[in-house]
Amino acid sequence: MRLYRMESLRWAFKFGSWKPTRAEWIQAAQCIQPEEKERIGKFVFTKDGKAAMAGRLLLRKAVADTLQIPWHEVKLARTDKGKPYLVNAVPNFFPNFNFNVSHQGDYSIVAAEPILQVGVDVMKVEQPSRTNIPDFFLTMRKQFTEHEWRTIKRPSNLWKQLETFYRYWCLKESYIKAIGIGLGYDLQRLEFHLKTDELSEGILTEDTVVYVDKKMDPNWNFQETKLDKDHLVAVALWNQNHHGNQSNQVTGPRETEMNGDTETSSKPKFRLMDLTELMSTSKPLLAADEEYWEAFNKKAERYSRTVTR
Ligand SMILES: CC(C)(COP(=O)(O)OP(=O)(O)OC[C@H]1O[C@@H](n2cnc3c(N)ncnc32)[C@H](O)[C@@H]1OP(=O)(O)O)[C@@H](O)C(=O)NCCC(=O)NCCS
Repeated sequence: MRLYRMESLRWAFKFGSWKPTRAEWIQAAQCIQPEEKERIGKFVFTKDGKAAMAGRLLLRKAVADTLQIPWHEVKLARTDKGKPYLVNAVPNFFPNFNFNVSHQGDYSIVAAEPILQVGVDVMKVEQPSRTNIPDFFLTMRKQFTEHEWRTIKRPSNLWKQLETFYRYWCLKESYIKAIGIGLGYDLQRLEFHLKTDELSEGILTEDTVVYVDKKMDPNWNFQETKLDKDHLVAVALWNQNHHGNQSNQVTGPRETEMNGDTETSSKPKFRLMDLTELMSTSKPLLAADEEYWEAFNKKAERYSRTVTR
């Protein structure tokens, strides 16, 4: 019997160090859907345009490569809350093929799953741009619970506090992105309990637990890591079909039954792609657009440079 296999997919592209040439930007713009090309063209700063462009390219590559759909035939749409989804039919052996993108700091990332519902968030730990850390925390006090604030403020070192703050941020965002809610969710309903104090590069932390409306929810699993010393990532995995078992273990992506055969995949770590790999299976949907490059080339990279550690 043929065994269809999909590992959990985790890819990252460092758009922060991408300085697109004319040929690269024109090619990239040819390989995304027209409405997305138009949206990206409206960004005032190139940093935001590159982040969104890389997100779209990662998404198309993830779908095209995993489902063997020719790149130019991949059709993506958005829910009314803005979450991208695949319009093309999905093969039966991936009953809930789904994905999610995030871009912030220097990275765009994508995560895709065959069965579990996935949400992803990346955040760069950086000094708040117009204020100090304690004042920044004050403006954010409503987003986190008392327990979370106690945990954030436990270390005496302010930078460590900021790291925990952004860790919670990623966790909350990954949760709301997995279920596809945009703005408007009362974040006080979610409370995360961390068992591992600090995240490390290249190591997957999977012991964080979520309480929803003060009740531990065993249907959620979180994979946290650091892409580099400043960038934190959370991947939320929701097992919609898992009810009743009060342990925190869900039937995760590493043990997936397909056609009666069971496969075990290795721990899903983020793989950094360069532009050549990102574009390797691309095919143009649109004609080359010189003006699109000229408009991009006139823009500034960003509004103002934030101070990092
Ligand atoms: C989309 C949203 C959920 C997250 O946006 P964000 O954190 O600014 O941005 P990210 O880079 O992580 O994600 C953006 C990507 O998520 C995807 N997305 C958009 N809407 C989405 C939704 N409703 N659900 C899931 N994913 C969504 C898109 O791919 C988008 O990139 P694109 O528009 O370039 O294709 C947005 O609704 C939001 O800003 N929520 C903020 C809620 C909040 O208060 N958070 C504080 C946390 S403590």
